[in-house]
Amino acid sequence: MNWDIERTQKTPIYQSIMKHITQNIQNGQLLPGQKLPSERKLAAIIGVNRSTIVRVMAELEAKGIIKRQQGSGTMVNDDKWGLSQEPVVDWHQLIQGQQTDEHQLLMTQIKEKSQEEGVIDAYTGELPLDLVPAFDLPQSNWRDFIEADKNQDALGYFPLRQAISNLVAQDYRFTLPVEHLMITSGGHQAIFLIVQALLNSGDAVAICQPSFLYALNLFQTAGIRLFGVPMDEQGMRLDFLENEILKHRVKLVMLNPTFQNPTGTTMSLARRQALIKLCQTYKIPIIEDDAFGLLPFDKRTNVPPLKKLDPQNVIYIGSLSKIIGSTTKIGWISAPLAVLEKLSIARQDLDLTLSIFPQVLANYALSDVTFQDKLASLRAQINVRMTYFLDLIGQDFTCHRPAGGFYVWLKLSTDTLTKKQMDAFLSAGILCLPSFVFGDKTPAIRLNIARLNRDEIKRLVEKLQELKQVGIC
Ligand SMILES: Cc1ncc(COP(=O)(O)O)c(C=O)c1O
Repeated sequence: MNWDIERTQKTPIYQSIMKHITQNIQNGQLLPGQKLPSERKLAAIIGVNRSTIVRVMAELEAKGIIKRQQGSGTMVNDDKWGLSQEPVVDWHQLIQGQQTDEHQLLMTQIKEKSQEEGVIDAYTGELPLDLVPAFDLPQSNWRDFIEADKNQDALGYFPLRQAISNLVAQDYRFTLPVEHLMITSGGHQAIFLIVQALLNSGDAVAICQPSFLYALNLFQTAGIRLFGVPMDEQGMRLDFLENEILKHRVKLVMLNPTFQNPTGTTMSLARRQALIKLCQTYKIPIIEDDAFGLLPFDKRTNVPPLKKLDPQNVIYIGSLSKIIGSTTKIGWISAPLAVLEKLSIARQDLDLTLSIFPQVLANYALSDVTFQDKLASLRAQINVRMTYFLDLIGQDFTCHRPAGGFYVWLKLSTDTLTKKQMDAFLSAGILCLPSFVFGDKTPAIRLNIARLNRDEIKRLVEKLQELKQVGIC
């Protein structure tokens, strides 16, 4: 292979070498599993310091592009669908924003299949229509909305900010001051604005592995490097997090600590306190995504949000999507004023204006005298579904009991999760998302149990048991 590196004044040489190696893998000059020259040899061929090559290799390894094995040297990572027996994520593709053909094919197949009669849709992350609380809307006319617009500034519609502050105070017994609260077009926009305003291309962000953030393209398009931190039943593993912080100069830690998407795990209080301490030590802000936080099955066992434990260093994201439906597209961020200013400037620069209509409608819902009763009934109904599923599935599969939210993370008893197994789920009419969509290698699937009625849950469990008997899961 040719090692003539394009040298420009603008790009540091280590980046040019990384680009060269990546391009040669993409165009087939370097093949999966192919060995690279030793660091010393490569430094001599290219004519750079050995420390430059050490940095190149460390970064390429972190991105999953190459792997290093003691005794065998450095080689192009061959952990790809189809090449490996193991169900492994193609990290490079995920990080670079080019999802594999297999991944895209699977999503298309799931979407097509979802149109068929009788399929069990445990894949969508939405609240099902029959559980969306029905709020009556007051008589209003067009001008009321125009009038309401006068009550909106760069942070959103003031009465809604007040209503959200009251909701959080009532449900969590802590205060998100109205002046530190900004309305966004859903939790998704909140994450997008944080990425746009607080991060630069190349920055490193630590997230859980698995995490739903792997399924969002916005990190890839912004050039953000995601580093997955393994989890246990208490949430993100802090020993691994500290390692990532030391290795990659992590700029933010982003996590969804309560009823996590996709595993349903809730971070324990002790882990939350230790996480806060660790991030304070390294002066790293935490982004807490609490999209499911309003859905505990038993409010008495609620673990306090990170924001309540450390108001100064935590940026908090909330959303109404999981309690009144995602079409409402209302989310919020609570952050120090200086940060909110930056976020609202980013929103203005990107022309992402916030319509007054969903804000006024959401305010009607939150101000409805029946709101708390309806929310309590929603939690109870999801809990009934979850309990029914867990009782039926019994000991047949390994899954932990979520204390709230929508998801069950079902560990499969097979050693792998291949495309063939996913096809078998689809043929059986089970729509679900595999672990690799969430950046995880373990054979597991995410099931949205909140979406399923009693009959669907019964059929789902029967089908899973049948598939297990024939060795699919
Ligand atoms: C954990 C988490 N955060 C944020 C979002 C985005 O929420 P929204 O629908 O409010 O944009 C989702 C959506 O599924 C989610 O699961």
